[in-house]
Amino acid sequence: MSNSIADLTSAHHGPSAAIAAARARFSSLRGDFVFLDAPGGTQTPDEVAEAVAQVYRESSGNTGAPYATSRRLEVLVDEARAASARFLGCTFDEVIFGANMTSLNFTLSRTLGRQLNPGDEIVVTRLDHDANVAPWLDLAADRDLRVRHADVHSDTSLDLADLERHLGPRTKVVAFPWAANSTGTIVDARAICDLAHQAGALAWVDAVQYAAHEPMDVTSIGADVVTCSAYKFCGPHLGIAFGRRELLESWRPYKARPVSFEPVGHRFETGTLPYELLGGLLATYAYLDSLGGMAELAAWERQLGERMLAGFPAGTQLYGLPTMAGRVPTFLINFPGVPSARLSEELADRGFGVWSHGSYYALGLHERIGWGEALRIGLAHYNTLEEMDRFNEVLAALVASYAPDATPDVVSGGQR
Ligand SMILES: Cc1ncc(COP(=O)(O)O)c(C=O)c1O
Repeated sequence: MSNSIADLTSAHHGPSAAIAAARARFSSLRGDFVFLDAPGGTQTPDEVAEAVAQVYRESSGNTGAPYATSRRLEVLVDEARAASARFLGCTFDEVIFGANMTSLNFTLSRTLGRQLNPGDEIVVTRLDHDANVAPWLDLAADRDLRVRHADVHSDTSLDLADLERHLGPRTKVVAFPWAANSTGTIVDARAICDLAHQAGALAWVDAVQYAAHEPMDVTSIGADVVTCSAYKFCGPHLGIAFGRRELLESWRPYKARPVSFEPVGHRFETGTLPYELLGGLLATYAYLDSLGGMAELAAWERQLGERMLAGFPAGTQLYGLPTMAGRVPTFLINFPGVPSARLSEELADRGFGVWSHGSYYALGLHERIGWGEALRIGLAHYNTLEEMDRFNEVLAALVASYAPDATPDVVSGGQR
């Protein structure tokens, strides 16, 4: 039996057999709890955990020794690099592994910074997570650079005209998110890479949120650097970056001197790699492929997103785009007069995992849109249509319980 979810688009009632089969591969999804916190971190299938354990059992020590368990590690690193290249749409040697996206971004921006000069400029956007802003602010402070902030429209889409206004002869980098972790807004990555290159700057893409929901081809968008994080797409806590080969070759890496310069991505990997997590990463890609790959998952997630959007209770204040067009299924919402922190706690008590937070690390957008604190609902492919309905039903009852004449037991029995 195929596990592919291609047939899901025709599913009318409840979770399809394919999603039920996928869910059965996660111990954490066996209970009633509904995880709607994917942008914070997804659930992980058991086969990923098993692959991590298998590395500990069967491949030990370090690469470079002439015995079997060391050789296995070398094969594993090569396989993880090759599979990551397929996932990103680049070549084997352009892949860089790191502790997480933030660490990779600090490392790579510092490396580029070695060749920047006082007065050079970096453009970031108000849509960015701070992991794609703070490294540039720190670098600017250290090397006397200037960081400029491109604005968004009131619907949270990126203001390309404003971005263009910030470009100039001193622009060296345009850093932007492929999709926003706060509101789910997708950015036209190809268009911004083109704008960056026309200005003679590098295009530096934070794909953490996008990689979790859409297939990527970093070469076809023309990016110079792209970063993502495996724990957002059912994998281990591990950062993965793409760097265009000619660019990486032109940089002077921060590295221990005996470390090999080849493949080129490796020279930016400081110290020993987390081999066990690379084993888990391979299992993650195999899991996603077994469901038909990211394009099929994206189609299913759009259905889930449409169902969630259509079912939001009356009075929902949605920050961001109103339909699934131009977004991933990450929704930021509020209800006037209802504290989102209380809602998040009460939803947790009733079996739903959603976050309440202020900025969600998107400091520029938070300042611009001013949502205060809001509820973030983030879907993953393992969610079901039934979960969307159940969530909205309980949310509506909870929100109604805040009305002055409501009785508190209106939401009792929310957890099923
Ligand atoms: C859009 C975005 N960028 C960057 C990061 C930072 O990723 P990491 O936790 O791997 O450092 C996150 C984490 O939530 C994110 O959502």
